[in-house]
Amino acid sequence: MATVRKAIIPAAGLGTRFLPATKTVPKEMLTIVDAPIIFYVVEEAVQAGIEDIFLIQGRGKTAIEDFFDASYELEDRLEKDGKTYLLDRLLKIRSMANIISIRQKQPLGLGHAVLCGERVIGNEPFAVLLGDEIMLAQSGKPNATQHLVNLHKANQSTTVAVMNVPERDVSKYGIADLSAISEGYFKVKSFIEKPSIAQAPSRWAMPGRYVFSHDIFTFLKEAKQSLAGEIQLTDSMNELAKQKDVFASTFSAERFDAGDKLGYLKANVELALRNSELKDDFSKYLLELAQRIKG
Ligand code: G1P
Repeated sequence: MATVRKAIIPAAGLGTRFLPATKTVPKEMLTIVDAPIIFYVVEEAVQAGIEDIFLIQGRGKTAIEDFFDASYELEDRLEKDGKTYLLDRLLKIRSMANIISIRQKQPLGLGHAVLCGERVIGNEPFAVLLGDEIMLAQSGKPNATQHLVNLHKANQSTTVAVMNVPERDVSKYGIADLSAISEGYFKVKSFIEKPSIAQAPSRWAMPGRYVFSHDIFTFLKEAKQSLAGEIQLTDSMNELAKQKDVFASTFSAERFDAGDKLGYLKANVELALRNSELKDDFSKYLLELAQRIKG
């Protein structure tokens, strides 16, 4: 039985929504409390049992691989200064997983980014985590990727996370047409990328967490550029669903689209409230702020 040990994290986007910051800093390196967005995504993968993480990157993104690399000078300084807590944190980050970086040489979209991982994934199932979505697991519950990995263990088929979105938002996402198997678990009939309200078969949107069987590559290799001139992952998933069983599931984690300014700010607030150093003072501040806004 094939277990999921590998993950692809596409991180090649230009991050135009965060200009001017992203002129020099990759959007995945923008900070949430005290760690970059990509840290939380990699942490989710590692907690789900992933060992090898393939970052699909564009030009100018070397800061991401440097973040997961050793920094001897800094580590030496922290050790000499007795800052063991910080040192331990850095050492943990650089041994979290095997981080392998792959260049996407043309900006041809998400489907193309995933296809860039074909040779390294080989014949195994693999997870895909979009690099600007943060999923915060509820305590004691599996995180979103872990949940998909668990389902894949049982169904041995491509399984994707879905969430219900308001009608006005269907045109922002890949949307799935589903038939229910049990509460929150579905068989997929079809997928469509960013449909209009009139075209949308449902309000079940894909938030960017997937576990694929390797046969998705058969379809990605054949895929043509479509919406926005890009090779859309959703198109190949739709082809896959015509021929094989594909499943979808809701998830309990809280999701933040950190690639969007409001989502990014919300993720900062939520994670600050979960941070033992900050939570007391920060929640006091938020309560005062709420009073001020109301008054
Ligand atoms: C991508 C995918 C889309 C998915 C979305 C989640 O779109 O193409 O299917 O629903 O991520 O955020 P993007 O947001 O990159 O345009």
